[in-house]
Amino acid sequence: MNKNKWKQCCIGILGVCLLLSCQKSPAFDVDKSLDYCVTQVGRSLNQLKPYDYTRVPRNILSGEQHWNLRPVAIEEWCAGFWPGVLWYTYEYAQDSAILEQARNYTNSLASIADGPVYDHDLGFLMFCSFGNGFRLTQDPAYKEVIIKSAHLLMDLYNPVVGTMLSWPREVANNGWPHNTIIDNMINLEMMFWAANHGGDPNLIEIAKNHADKTMQYHFRPDHTCYHVAVYDTSNGRFIKGVTHQGYSDNSMWARGQAWAIYGYTVMYRETQDPKYLDFVQKVAKAYLDRLPEDYVPYWDFDDPLIPQAPRDASAAAITASALIELSKLVPEQKQAKAYFEAAERMLRSLSRGPYQSGTENTSFLKHSTGHKPGASEVDASIIYADYYYIEALLRYRNAIQ
Ligand code: GLY
Repeated sequence: MNKNKWKQCCIGILGVCLLLSCQKSPAFDVDKSLDYCVTQVGRSLNQLKPYDYTRVPRNILSGEQHWNLRPVAIEEWCAGFWPGVLWYTYEYAQDSAILEQARNYTNSLASIADGPVYDHDLGFLMFCSFGNGFRLTQDPAYKEVIIKSAHLLMDLYNPVVGTMLSWPREVANNGWPHNTIIDNMINLEMMFWAANHGGDPNLIEIAKNHADKTMQYHFRPDHTCYHVAVYDTSNGRFIKGVTHQGYSDNSMWARGQAWAIYGYTVMYRETQDPKYLDFVQKVAKAYLDRLPEDYVPYWDFDDPLIPQAPRDASAAAITASALIELSKLVPEQKQAKAYFEAAERMLRSLSRGPYQSGTENTSFLKHSTGHKPGASEVDASIIYADYYYIEALLRYRNAIQ
């Protein structure tokens, strides 16, 4: 090759490289993913006929095609997610047939608000269902149910400790006196809401105390959290951090860290107190820094079987939803963009091949892990993954409009 040809060739290669590096990846087609959700909900509703509103979808295990249903009851922590999925689907599709089913499934949970309280899962149960229902319909009956549910949580609050008890039954069973699990952070949104809509104003103080004590003791120095914090009931002293659903007491259980990111994002949104913003950024960093390439975590970041360990798509969906919210709250543009792009990366992965259920079953997502140490719901479709996936898609859609 003579000198001129060689020069031309180099310029050509450089041009192609520049062109490739300037090409943006195609926009994430959020409407396509939401249309997919509408299709899957339609298929699920068909499958559920004739309707029995006292039983709700919980999971579809690997290789199965039909939802396993659970009775609506205060003991079934996931009973609010299916009505929640229906509300979000209605919000997008504006289909009155879906609205009717959202109402019917939601109403079947109403008596849970009459108590007595069983454990801390009331936020999941009642805010995903009635909370979304009120947001979209302003039905005053829904408001009453939410306020009653939030008041029930006060029965679990120990003012000496400063947190709500999560599992009353574990006090005796496991010798965990005042136990608080990180998932309990998800109740705080409903407590703020209830206090701001005519409920007991003390709910706000309780929520803040809970978040503050959790911030102080529930996290290790690297900002990863324990699943369970055990406190002395009588003097509030932190006794130990342990796990129930994670790999080990000191591992980073993916969904636990996701609940923490979601919960402290809500705390900052509700209080505008910069200490929560600072904290949630550290908690999010601990999670984001250790994600695999597709941004869908293994069920526990410290499982030695990685990369053979199962994933948890639900943790990715929860985190994507939280990060989109956080991206609207952080003042620095660069950081906001980074959170939004991380969430988009999670949603792109969840919206492709390995994670979409497609025609295999009628859920939205595969590859969630519920309780690996208990060998329960491992690598399965689970209703809360679908709930947070569609919530995240709608948040994404609202953010780009
Ligand atoms: N108990 C809530 C969860 O499994 O994440």
